[in-house]
Amino acid sequence: MNEMILSAAKYLEHKIANKIKPEIAIILGTGLNSFAEIVDNPQIIPYEEIPGFCISTAPSHQGRLIFGTISDVPVLLMQGRLHFYEGYSMQEITFPVRVMAKIGIKKMIVTNAAGSLNEKIIPGSIVTIKDHINFMGTNPLIGKNLDNFGERFPSLHEPYDHKMIELFHEIATEKDIKIHTGVYVAVTGPSFETHAECSMMAKWGADLVGMSTIPEVIVGKHSGLRILGISVATNFGNIFHSKSHTQEEIRANAGKAQKNLQEIIFDLLKRV
Ligand code: HPA
Repeated sequence: MNEMILSAAKYLEHKIANKIKPEIAIILGTGLNSFAEIVDNPQIIPYEEIPGFCISTAPSHQGRLIFGTISDVPVLLMQGRLHFYEGYSMQEITFPVRVMAKIGIKKMIVTNAAGSLNEKIIPGSIVTIKDHINFMGTNPLIGKNLDNFGERFPSLHEPYDHKMIELFHEIATEKDIKIHTGVYVAVTGPSFETHAECSMMAKWGADLVGMSTIPEVIVGKHSGLRILGISVATNFGNIFHSKSHTQEEIRANAGKAQKNLQEIIFDLLKRV
């Protein structure tokens, strides 16, 4: 594993040839792809070129890394994430996070589309993740520990960096953009949750449900990264109504939040 991580890191370092050395990475979730358009001087590297990277098969996930700058800050965008439901292992979907840590990334913004389990969080809302519940039934750190990254039993007492959350809320207030904060629960998918599952998860204290993010956050924390998690609520979960939601609805609602999210992150990058 370590060798694969090293060879991917070497490949990227060689490719970007010291032109740019980002310390912050953004993982783009469903419907948040247009973020890539605001990157200046983008250098695009498709996953298939990078040793050890798997190819994203999820709808609207493109599968490439973009190195460049946003408001003069060097950034690395991961456009198209890998999901457990695609059939990849936990180690495969979190491999890019290990590589990011290896090439010097210190902070990671993880975005996703999620179902809302909280009536106050309506579709189209932006939500900072303050904590999570891993209901995927597994953990990406199972197996031999990578001691050079982190310890066997890493603490998750603060998986999401409170300073980054505070800054995100401060900027949203300055821009008069209403946002929420909440607890995210991850399931494997790909089927959406039943009524019974949604009401159970809401009773546990979850505000959002989705099929990603937590594996990357666990590996990111194990690798010593500071992490900000942002969900865009794209639909209500199955507790408030019985209408089923489509990929089109999810993408349309993610698109609604995209401009505001972009504006907040644009400022955050300069101040974080
Ligand atoms: N459930 C799980 N994942 C999701 C949902 C949902 O309702 N919406 C977007 N991603």
